[in-house]
Amino acid sequence: MYKLSGVTKRYRRGRETVEALRGVDLVIEDGDKLVIQGPTGGGKSTLLQMLGALDRPTEGSIELDGTDLARLSESALTKLRSEKIGFVFQSFNLIPTLTAQENVETALVPLGVGADERRRRAAAALESVGLGERLRHLPSELSGGQQQRVAIARALVKNPRVLLADEPTGNLDEGTRDEIMNLLETLWKENGFTFVMVTHDSAIARSAQRLAVIKKGTVTVTERARA
Ligand SMILES: Nc1ncnc2c1ncn2[C@@H]1O[C@H](COP(=O)(O)OP(=O)(O)OP(=O)(O)O)[C@@H](O)[C@H]1O
Ligand SMILES: [Mg+2]
Repeated sequence: MYKLSGVTKRYRRGRETVEALRGVDLVIEDGDKLVIQGPTGGGKSTLLQMLGALDRPTEGSIELDGTDLARLSESALTKLRSEKIGFVFQSFNLIPTLTAQENVETALVPLGVGADERRRRAAAALESVGLGERLRHLPSELSGGQQQRVAIARALVKNPRVLLADEPTGNLDEGTRDEIMNLLETLWKENGFTFVMVTHDSAIARSAQRLAVIKKGTVTVTERARA
């Protein structure tokens, strides 16, 4: 579970300070899905970076499973990220010289998984996103939707506790967008990770159980009654 208390993030550029998050209080329960929306520059990606321990808040605390992330050293944060947190971005961020399978395997290297098991698990992860027939393709030999599937497999191959997705369908055409959204939804239901996703897709936002709207660094959460 995540517990954010009074999270403020300021970026300093020369003499100017931008307050990207302003005193955010937020709880995200295990296995929940939280959809994040809001205008450009509102602080959505900044919040995801905080949740992913990619950066530290200027003020306030972020607890993950009872551990205050601010108390962890850089190396402990790196370990936590590689074990517990999967990321998917708008740009797929695949390594162009590696095959789909090798790209997925990279997520297991920091965990000390041996080569045979890496290959097996990467193949299984690619199978689970519908790319069992594309293991040896390079990113340039895959469509945009397929590249995002590889990135999703890479994020999930380690069975993370949390999946953070920042506009995962932002670079895709409409049909492919729905495919990827459906895939993410299915994987979330099957695997039970905590899922936090930034999306501009208003249909997704309407259907979300919990929707966080971020404007000017302030978060408002809307909760729907469970059906
Ligand atoms: N590294 C940085 N240095 C300085 N300012 C930053 C940095 N990252 C973000 N900001 C500023 O913080 C604010 C929030 O940015 P953020 O990227 O979180 O917005 P966003 O909601 O994700 O927007 P978008 O929808 O365009 O992706 C913006 O005003 C942005 O210019
Ligand atoms: Mg953003």
